[in-house]
Amino acid sequence: MTRRILMPALLTLAVCTLAVATHAQDREGTGTVQSPRGGPVPDLSGVDSSGFILTEFQRIVRGFQIAPVPLNLQNKDLALVGLGSYIVNAEGGCNDCHTNPPFAAGGDPHMGQPKRINAERYLAGGTPFGPVISRNLTPYGQGGKPANYTFDEFRRVLRTGVDLKNLEPHVPSADHDLLQVMPWPVFQNQVDRDIRAIYEYLRAIPVREGFPE
Ligand code: HEC
Repeated sequence: MTRRILMPALLTLAVCTLAVATHAQDREGTGTVQSPRGGPVPDLSGVDSSGFILTEFQRIVRGFQIAPVPLNLQNKDLALVGLGSYIVNAEGGCNDCHTNPPFAAGGDPHMGQPKRINAERYLAGGTPFGPVISRNLTPYGQGGKPANYTFDEFRRVLRTGVDLKNLEPHVPSADHDLLQVMPWPVFQNQVDRDIRAIYEYLRAIPVREGFPE
C-alpha cells in the first residue's frame, strides 16, 4: 500500500526535479552571490542520482513532520512547502532569532526540558539584538506575503541583505541600509529553488502580529 503511493510520488518527483534543474540554470535573480570562487566541479556523470532524489523526498517528508504549526496548504506547491519547512526548521535556525521566545514555557531544550517550539509567536519576530530587532516573517501582507514581501523582494533581501523596510539602525548609511544580525551573507549562497521553498513554506504558516507593525 505504501509502495503504491510512494513509487508514483517518487517518479513524479524525479521528473519535477529534472525539470526544475534544467529550467533553473542560473536564473538566480538580482544581487550577487558573494565569493563565487568557481572551484572545479568534478565530473558527476557517473553518480547514481536516484539516491539523491530519494534524499530530497525524505527532506520533504521530514519537513512536514517537523513543522511546529498547522499549515495552510491551499494553492501551495506541496513539495516546496515540505522542503521549505526542512530548510527553516532543520537547517536555517530561523526560529531561534525570529520567534520570541523560541520555545514555549517548560519546553526549552537548553534547560533540559522536552522541546516545544513557541507556536503562538512562531516567526513573528520581536527578538532584540541590541538595537536590532528581528522581523515578522509570517504571511501578514496583502495576499499572504511572508514579511509582506513579494517573492522577488524576499529573494533580494536574502541575497543582498538590503533593508527594504529601512528601519533603524541605518547601517552603514541611510541610503545603503543593510540588515545587521540576519545571516544573509550565508543564506545568499542558497540556490534559487531553496529560497523559493522557504518562501512557499512561509506562505503556509499562520499569520501572527509581530514586528514591525
Ligand atoms: C542570528 C539570528 C537570525 C537568524 C538565524 C535568522 N534571522 Fe532573519 N533576521 C534577523 C534579524 C535580527 C533581522 C532584522 C534586523 C537586522 O538583521 O538588521 C532579520 C531579518 C530578516 C528578513 C527581513 C524581513 C523584513 O521585514 O525586512 C528576512 C526575510 C529574514 N530575516 C528571513 C530569515 C529566514 C528565512 C531565516 C532562516 C532561514 C532567518 N531569517 C534566520 C535574525 C536572524
